[in-house]
Formats: sequence, C-alpha cells, structure tokens
Amino acid sequence: MKIIVVGSGGREHAIIKKLKESPKVSEIFALPGNGGIAADATCVDISAMDIPAIVRFAKDNAIDYAVVAPDDPLVAGCVDALEAEGIPCFGPRANAAIIEGSKVFAKNLMKQYGIPTARYETFDDAEAALKYLETAPIPTVIKADGLALGKGVIIAATREEAKQAVISMMREGQFGKSGERVVIEEFLTGPEVSVLSFTDGQTVVPMVSSMDHKRAGDGDTGLNTGGMGTIAPNPYYTEKVAARCMEEIFLPTIRAMAKEGRPFKGCLYFGLMITPDGPKVIEYNCRFGDPETQVVLPLLEGDLLEIMQAVTEERLAETTVRFSEGAAACVIMASEGYPVAYEKGYEITIPNEALPHVYVAGAKRQGDKLVTSGGRVLGVTAVAENLPQALKQAYVLVDTIHFDHAFYRRDIGARALKAVEK
Ligand code: AMP
Ligand code: GLY
Repeated sequence: MKIIVVGSGGREHAIIKKLKESPKVSEIFALPGNGGIAADATCVDISAMDIPAIVRFAKDNAIDYAVVAPDDPLVAGCVDALEAEGIPCFGPRANAAIIEGSKVFAKNLMKQYGIPTARYETFDDAEAALKYLETAPIPTVIKADGLALGKGVIIAATREEAKQAVISMMREGQFGKSGERVVIEEFLTGPEVSVLSFTDGQTVVPMVSSMDHKRAGDGDTGLNTGGMGTIAPNPYYTEKVAARCMEEIFLPTIRAMAKEGRPFKGCLYFGLMITPDGPKVIEYNCRFGDPETQVVLPLLEGDLLEIMQAVTEERLAETTVRFSEGAAACVIMASEGYPVAYEKGYEITIPNEALPHVYVAGAKRQGDKLVTSGGRVLGVTAVAENLPQALKQAYVLVDTIHFDHAFYRRDIGARALKAVEK
C-alpha cells in the first residue's frame, strides 16, 4: 500500500517508522516531512495546511491510505477533503476535531455529559471577563478558545496576571481569532497523565499511558515548551485510576461525540490531571501527542497500519491492540534559546547505532549533511525492561549525538521515578 503521512515533526517520524514495520506498506510519502524523516520516507514539499495540494497529490499518486497527524489540518477539514475523493484516512473529520479546535466546545461537551473537568466560565466579551476576574478564585487559568500553537494557556498566579492575559488575548489579538473567546477555569492540582487512545467512534482502546515534561528547564522551571521529553508508562496511572478513567471519561466522551453527530475516529488524546477528587480532563487533543508518540508507539506490539485501518473501517472492537510490558523514555534535544529565540543551521552528527532511536523534529538536509532547522531538533527514545533502564539508555544515546548549542533536560523521568519508589 502507498501511504501519505501529513506533518513534519518528531511525532510524524515516529508514526512513519512504525508504519514501515508493516508488511502491507510499500511506500510512504511525508507531506512535507523533514530532513531526518527523509531517511524513512519520500518527502514531498507540500505544506500540511495546503489541503487542495494534499488531495491532488494523493489522487495523482494513487495513494491507498492517509494519516493526518497535526491538529491544524485536522481542524481545517483535511480528512473530509481526502475522504470526499475516496481516500481512506486515519484522523477525525473537522466536525469531531473541534474537540481540540474549540476549548469552549470541549468544555460545554464535558459539562453537558457530566465528564469531570475543571469548573469554568466562557467569555466572548473582554469587559465581562475582566469583571469576572475581580472576584474569581486565584490562581486561575485562562485559555484561548482556538488553536494557539500550544501557547494559549496561561496559569495566572495573581489577579493582575489574569487580567493581562485576558487583555492580550481578547483586546490585543495575541492569538488572532483563536483568542476572541476565552475559557476561564479553576486551577487544579495533581500529577498529569497523557492517555492517547484509538477510537472508531464506538470502541475506545487506550494506549499505554505517558508523561510529558513541558517546562524548558530542569526541575520543571522555565518557560512552557512543546514538550522536552516523555516517559511511558506513567506510574501515576494505576490500574484503579485507569478503570475510573474508562468509566468516567473515555467511554462517556466517545458516546457524547457520537450522540452529538460527531463520531470521533482516529487518535483521541486525553490530557488528564489526577486530582484529589479523582481524574479530570485538562484538555482533549484530536491527534497523537508530540512527544508522547515517541514513547507510546515504540511500545506498541503488532501492526500500526492494521490498527489504523480497523479504526477507519469501524472494526476496532475485533482488533487486538497490545503494548509491551517494558518502559520507554524520550529525551528531546533542542537548540539553546528554545522556546524563544534560537539559531539554526548547525550540523547534526548521529552515529549509526543511535539512528533507530532518533525521531527528527527540526532538521533539514544541506548537501549530504543534516543541519538543525527548528527549536526542538530531535527526540531520542530508548525502550527497556523498566523505566530506570530506559532513562539511562536514552541519556547514553543522547551523549553520542552532537550539534552545536544543543540543550536538553537532564531530569526527564525524575518525578516518575520518585513515584515508583513511593
Ligand atoms: P495545554 O496547552 O492545554 O496543554 O495546557 C498546558 C498546561 O497547563 C497543562 O499541561 C497543565 O499543566 C496546565 N493546565 C491547564 N489547565 C489547567 C488547570 N485547570 N489547572 C491547572 N493546570 C492547568
Ligand atoms: N505533548 C502535548 C501535545 O502534543 O499537545
């Protein structure tokens, strides 16, 4: 089968490497991919948001199956457009991708169907939002309604900060249209767990749980990033918590979406917080997480393409999805200065032994060299029998890879290890 994977990051590289293991796959095209992905797929210079060009490419090249990985083309209807031309896809249609595309939609869905989440108010008027903040409990959380490159969430420790966030989003247009409406919600506490799941609209199969590390610096300090590393499984996600999540969150969400006439097919990502009152939804994403995918898929046993096709053809209930008993750790190597300002164009050297462990996020080809081209440059994943070994091996691999001004966190998994020791 000839497959296209839409997207260009480490997540897409992990999806492509896993798909390559399938005996059914003959050729993979990445649209647009990147310089590192080029080692595992044919990269085609079509932007992930150029939906007409994606559809044309798929038709012209007799593509059999499409995987749309990033949020923005999903929300913009890439799957709808491909399906209209008869190309089967992995990923939700726009009417279901809205679960990530609009936080107001997601919050209202949860309220209507009794799915546990932080208490909230929504506002489309800055005046009313500012007035509400006069008496709102502090700290509070301000969220832009629409997609904002993962930057649309502000945890405000003071009333002033909260007001400033509202002013930036609603009056100064910090996130454009995405910030015209905001959600202001209760600040929750507790460990965070990411659970990606396969769902065909009726059946939901959670994948192995994981933990992201969002802050740039060791000890969870510094700015929020797209994610500096991940581990799986997440030790806070005990069997008891998992059972509650299935009962109170996963099944009710899938049923709610179906009931609303928006059956969700693809990967639904549950961003959860295990609060003292039980698990609650922090956010839904309509896609695989990045860099969660870089630890989850290496633990998947079996054929990813077959599972994806079962999702598309709504026969997930009859399909076996198994994860290995081991653990995985991914350390992101970024360019110094990320997530603010960083330089690009430094040569990357990766020894051959490390290559199977590397998922490239921000690099391009320059002649026969690979050079840095993004803030997050690559993710290095190790799989082992247990978490301490996976972490150790990931850091050993990181030490063998070089580019100037590389920086990475040295404490990925440290909190998870403490939880295991308890
Ligand atoms: P997001 O960009 O939606 O992934 O949110 C970024 C981060 O903000 C989450 O991973 C949480 O750490 C934090 N966050 C979001 N909502 C809340 C909340 N209601 N209470 C506490 N922290 C939150
Ligand atoms: N790692 C969080 C996300 O993919 O949104």
